[in-house]
Amino acid sequence: MDQAIEIYNLSVVYSADKKPVKALDGLCLDVPKGQVFGFLGPNGAGKTTTMHILLGFIAPTSGEARIFGTNVRHSIARQLIGYLPEHPDTYRFLTGKELLIMTGRLFQLKHSLLHSRIEEILHQVSLEEASTRKIATYSRGMMQRICLAQALINDPELLILDEPTGGLDPIGRMEIRKIITDLKNRGKTIFFSSHELSEVELICDHLAILSKGKLVVQGPRTEVVPPEENLEKFFMRKTGNL
Ligand SMILES: Nc1ncnc2c1ncn2[C@@H]1O[C@H](COP(=O)(O)OP(=O)(O)OP(=O)(O)O)[C@@H](O)[C@H]1O
Ligand SMILES: [Mg+2]
Repeated sequence: MDQAIEIYNLSVVYSADKKPVKALDGLCLDVPKGQVFGFLGPNGAGKTTTMHILLGFIAPTSGEARIFGTNVRHSIARQLIGYLPEHPDTYRFLTGKELLIMTGRLFQLKHSLLHSRIEEILHQVSLEEASTRKIATYSRGMMQRICLAQALINDPELLILDEPTGGLDPIGRMEIRKIITDLKNRGKTIFFSSHELSEVELICDHLAILSKGKLVVQGPRTEVVPPEENLEKFFMRKTGNL
């Protein structure tokens, strides 16, 4: 099994309103194990919807998806995933450390393992000093990092990160890039969406571009993006904006 994620012919139609919205239209995608995979596309392309399918938050209208070979309909697939949502928020009345203790307990981590993992992760996201402060006092970048720490608590094999650098300053973005690179070096798979194409160029091995729910291109970055084009120009051309 070489694929962390396999998506086959996935379609999602939202029908809450009178006019149904086709968010995904026959999407097929493979995310190889141990890679940093950039999932790109204009606003409304269907990136978050795809992630919500992988997490089991919504069911597809048709098609299927697998995480390390397990159909996402089975809740066991979720035990292998750490997730950072598009607009991270959490229990602001807890301290950073309390949040991680609570999350670790939900994963039934043993007391001694939990405490050593918390120290390790707080170091990884540079929140050791702030860990005894209430999350309500955190800046946006700190909120992003404590939610990422929460996603890492069970040492997941696959990280699904929805715009992990959204709204962060250059230092915050660099810190997130470093965390992603560290995770890759530890053999983890990172599937992330981003609109920061210069960032994506720096860290991703593979990429896919989605437009109006359909896949436009996927593959190793250096193979799909011609050497004479930067990623932004390639993205514009592939999404019909050039
Ligand atoms: N709960 C919902 N009900 C109805 N339509 C929805 C719902 N969620 C998303 N959509 C629609 O589905 C389409 C895809 O949305 P999605 O959030 O997956 O896009 P995205 O690629 O993540 O966009 P962005 O880059 O802005 O985050 C859009 O047309 C959106 O309006
Ligand atoms: Mg989104």
